Amino acid sequence: ASEAHVTDYAFPFEGPFGSYDTMQLQRGLKIYTEICAACHGLERVAFRTLADEGGPALPDDQMRAYAENFEVFDMSLADGAGDYRVATPTDYYPQSSLSNAPDLSMMAKARAGFHGPWGTGLSQLVNGMGGAEYIASLMTGYEEEPECALNMETPMDGFYNVAFANGGFPDECKDADGNHTVPGSWIAMSQPLYGDDVVFDDGHEATLESQSMDVAAFLMWTAEPKMTARKQAGLTGVLFLSVLAVLLYLTNKRIWAPHK
Ligand code: HEM
Repeated sequence: ASEAHVTDYAFPFEGPFGSYDTMQLQRGLKIYTEICAACHGLERVAFRTLADEGGPALPDDQMRAYAENFEVFDMSLADGAGDYRVATPTDYYPQSSLSNAPDLSMMAKARAGFHGPWGTGLSQLVNGMGGAEYIASLMTGYEEEPECALNMETPMDGFYNVAFANGGFPDECKDADGNHTVPGSWIAMSQPLYGDDVVFDDGHEATLESQSMDVAAFLMWTAEPKMTARKQAGLTGVLFLSVLAVLLYLTNKRIWAPHK
């Protein structure tokens, strides 16, 4: 693995009080549907969850109409031989259609954006794991091939990306000790977003960066759909325990008061 450039984007769901921005999730859903879904799958996400509070919160009729754009293979049809039918809200997104494109349901949790300092991962205590930051950085991380990789006899497979750490890397870009002289590596996915790839109904901006953040936020939601509920429950727990601690302290004082 080499060094990679991950930008610490500010997302609304960060921190103990953070929650998903419904509008951002809806924009991310649109980008995912129109662009990423051509190759990637979301096989752990059920269409019905698109209507959930704390998620994209699509109105029920929109969620149902959305599901109808997909087809699923149903083994119970055609006397057990199986056949395709239109998807219903209880079905899940299809698998990746391109065999080497990974499923994106859990990707925001499977990758980390922050590893430092010195590989200890301590920065994650403050900044979070950085899965969404990694995905957004991957979208914006495509650059011209570095000089060391030009004029090679066999050009590298794939595309140079400064945020992608684990892809192919040419010997020409390593120094005498084998250290990488340029960040990132070569990824098999060509650049999916350039800016203005989708048009939002409300006229929201669609720059490369804003689209990258929107789709990364959506993929954070698919990986952790109950994040808002989790944070609320945690906060309630902390408040409850704080009150309990005060009461126990006062009780203890009173019980022991005659003996001191
Ligand atoms: C890999 C996101 C569109 C093909 C990936 C990864 C992510 C991702 C997060 C995993 C990188 C890793 O392993 O760390 C997205 C998003 C897209 C999108 C958010 C839409 C905006 C596409 C499209 C294609 C594609 C349209 C096909 C034309 C691939 C392939 C890989 C990949 C082949 C594997 C790359 C490798 O391991 O070298 N994508 N993708 N992706 N994607 Fe996409």
